[in-house]
Amino acid sequence: MKIVAAEFLTSAVNPGGYPPGDLPEIAFVGRSNVGKSSLINRLVNRKGLARTSSTPGRTQLINFFKINDRFIMVDLPGYGYARVPEEVKARWGKMIEGYLKNRENLRGVCLLLDCRHTPTAQDIQMYRWLQYYRLPAAVVATKADKLSNNQWAKQQSVIKKTLSLAPEHSLIAFSAETGRGRDELLDVIKDWLQA
Ligand code: GTP
Ligand code: MG
Repeated sequence: MKIVAAEFLTSAVNPGGYPPGDLPEIAFVGRSNVGKSSLINRLVNRKGLARTSSTPGRTQLINFFKINDRFIMVDLPGYGYARVPEEVKARWGKMIEGYLKNRENLRGVCLLLDCRHTPTAQDIQMYRWLQYYRLPAAVVATKADKLSNNQWAKQQSVIKKTLSLAPEHSLIAFSAETGRGRDELLDVIKDWLQA
């Protein structure tokens, strides 16, 4: 799939703020600081489209980006950031779940994990949740430039085992720095859009 146009559409905190649901959507979810916004920028090859930051908790809203006038990429707020008050955590959780559970035009969800780390309890919970709601999903291991091939081979089995990854779900090594995994992930997204 070739991406020829990408534009920021809108930010939202609740369904009232979502754009009209007339285009299919692909969502990106994962821990705070895992690299969701960087991944979106790399997919569309536009550095500043989604705001990135080394400070966790940067994306505090649901951000919608229109791609090729054909579909929408959705950057969800990161979960698991310890240094925010409980009430803010609860609000983010509701925002993420409310979106994933009720969005009729949602066609697929990419669950992002840091390739260097064992999936956390929240990552596992999110993965189970996606399975429970039967959402088409892929697991994307970010920051793959930080591991050697050998280390990645090991981490791959740790991630598969920890999640009990189902055979229908791809595990893709991705790097926003090098572009590794970009074509593979775009192929998965293309399949979701055509399903
Ligand atoms: P929140 O919006 O806070 O949930 O974070 P996010 O998941 O959107 O992460 P973001 O894309 O802002 O990236 C967080 C940090 O990780 C930034 O410092 C990025 O430069 C860095 N980063 C993201 N992707 C990669 C990658 O593929 N390789 C390397 N080396 N660093 C990355
Ligand atoms: Mg972000």
